Amino acid sequence: MKSFFGVDYYPEHWPVEMMDKDINRMVDMGVEVVRIGEFAWHIMEKNEGEYDFSFFDMVIEKLKKRGIKVIFGTPTATPPAWLINKYPEILQRDENLMPRSFGGRRMYCYNNETYREYTKRIVTELANHYKNEDSIIAWQIDNEFGHEGSDLCFCDTCKRGFRNYLKEKYGTVDNLNKSWGTVFWSQTYNSFDEIPLPLKTITHHNPSMQLDYKRFMSKSINEYAKFQVDILRDILGEKAFITTNIAGGYFDKNFDHKQMAKEMDIASYDNYPVWGGLKEPITPANIAMDLDFIRGLKRKNFWIVEELMGAQGHTIIGYLPRPNQAKMWAYQAVAHGAQSILFFRYRTATFGTEEFCLGIIDQDNREGRKYREVKEFFKDVKGYRELLQSPIKSEIAFLYDYENIWAWKIQPQSTAFNFKEEMLKLYTAFYRHNTHIDVIDSKDDFSNYKVVVLPVMMIVDEELKHRLEEFTKKGGTVVLTYRTSIKDRNNNLYLGKAMPCNLNDLTGIEVEEIESLQEGQFAYADGKFGRTKCSVMREMINSKGAEVLYTYQDKFYREKGCITLNKFGQGEVYYIGTSADEEILTKIAEEIVIKNDIEHYNTPYGVEVYTRYLNDKKYMFVMNHTDEDKEVLGIKLMPYDSKIIEVK
Ligand code: GLA
Ligand code: ZN
Repeated sequence: MKSFFGVDYYPEHWPVEMMDKDINRMVDMGVEVVRIGEFAWHIMEKNEGEYDFSFFDMVIEKLKKRGIKVIFGTPTATPPAWLINKYPEILQRDENLMPRSFGGRRMYCYNNETYREYTKRIVTELANHYKNEDSIIAWQIDNEFGHEGSDLCFCDTCKRGFRNYLKEKYGTVDNLNKSWGTVFWSQTYNSFDEIPLPLKTITHHNPSMQLDYKRFMSKSINEYAKFQVDILRDILGEKAFITTNIAGGYFDKNFDHKQMAKEMDIASYDNYPVWGGLKEPITPANIAMDLDFIRGLKRKNFWIVEELMGAQGHTIIGYLPRPNQAKMWAYQAVAHGAQSILFFRYRTATFGTEEFCLGIIDQDNREGRKYREVKEFFKDVKGYRELLQSPIKSEIAFLYDYENIWAWKIQPQSTAFNFKEEMLKLYTAFYRHNTHIDVIDSKDDFSNYKVVVLPVMMIVDEELKHRLEEFTKKGGTVVLTYRTSIKDRNNNLYLGKAMPCNLNDLTGIEVEEIESLQEGQFAYADGKFGRTKCSVMREMINSKGAEVLYTYQDKFYREKGCITLNKFGQGEVYYIGTSADEEILTKIAEEIVIKNDIEHYNTPYGVEVYTRYLNDKKYMFVMNHTDEDKEVLGIKLMPYDSKIIEVK
């Protein structure tokens, strides 16, 4: 699938008379594709069974005349009022058992049979209507699955579904009781029908049960997505090219994104480096990690179907991207593997919940700074299409496992713990050296990397243990952090094993005790790269062969290791038993990058370079993420400047 550029267009939000002018302006801007249709269910089916696609037929005709292609969205993120009023049981229930009201979006239950039926009808009608429409180059199903809290449901259908899921998984209730440890607090079940959903209770539900509930929700969301994909593939056959837009905050969501991406022809992302209420954007490293995560889903380049241009927010507006800043984010996105980009949105709406989600054009309908930036960006990147489609090769991989992330969500163990922040801290350490990094599922094959980093991987099963050992034996470097391998897949601790339970040999250490540190609480450790603050958690490590790089500085734990390095086979294993300072982590990363001869660049703080290769040529994407003039590789950069440079 080639690379293309465009905008998210909502033609239904403006008088029809404006359409021709708008499309002309899009052509002038350099738009090649628009996304339409998602959220427009009522226009397509005003009353039950009255399908009418004439509005979009007209829009597509007009776009076609000017050579603009279409990504069509299925409208299931916003069921119409008539449907919800007829079948209120479609609505999700929250953990207080309150139905989510009609009025927002994404309020339907993924398991509701009636909703499945109506989904099937609208998607079938839509696909049949447009199956011969060649200007539709791709389909987007739904919109941002699981976003805005829509990834949990506690309705009766889900309760039945959860019990069936457990029956299938455990076979007998005795088996479930054993696996969950329900003897604790007299929670032993006599039958599957007694098992509750994790509704509000006093203190907390059993952690094994909660993890199974999250697995069940993940399965529900992914099955619903597949249900739509299958309908489209059935009708569209060979021509089907399907995606779905993944929202930010992917590590906070209760569905396995990798699983969903498997059903898609390409992974798509909605890239919003800043949103409602944020005083400033997320860090450049954070944006980069997001992009690398999306690329990791299919281990291929991807699309961005919503790229922020204006400030955004529903009731509270976010930071105003400075001149050229949003454009620079678009360069950063293509650098990290976005081969196509659509900006959100063509023009700001003058009504509805999103009238403060500012577009390329504001409500004044004038061509201003944002318009010029988009136009310049399109013009420039169109000269590099082939480069943007070229594969990205990384020698460093960050590994995650959704079940591990959920286990942390269930028991964060410190008020200062946040999975994404822990991942990001380590990611930033490598990002600083301008290395290529893949962010991938730990079940993916990682044998070809030089370095794998597994932040806070509480769940390390036998299989992962084995693969890590093989990887290290052959010369790989592994980086682990605190609380590694303390839990099994049932979310229970191991009996009779020192932590990190499955990785004592690999790490050459044993953790004797741990201390949870709350927000604002720190310990200190000294070692190789100078003193580090220890936050979130610290482990008192006894070496069983590993070199101790850092020891604690307080009275009772001076003898205990904090950071260690073990030789295993031809390889090395770093174990960081705390959340260390970014500065120290950056030095450890540098040591690893140099030892492993990994391509990297020193740049001034806030300046990112990302290399890409095409045929025998090397290109550098250079981004100045700061509001100051900078210089790098002999190139002068203005604030928020970005450039693509061919390196001779
Ligand atoms: C999301 C959605 C869009 C819109 C924008 C607003 O990511 O997919 O429908 O809500 O954000 O910023
Ligand atoms: Zn439900």
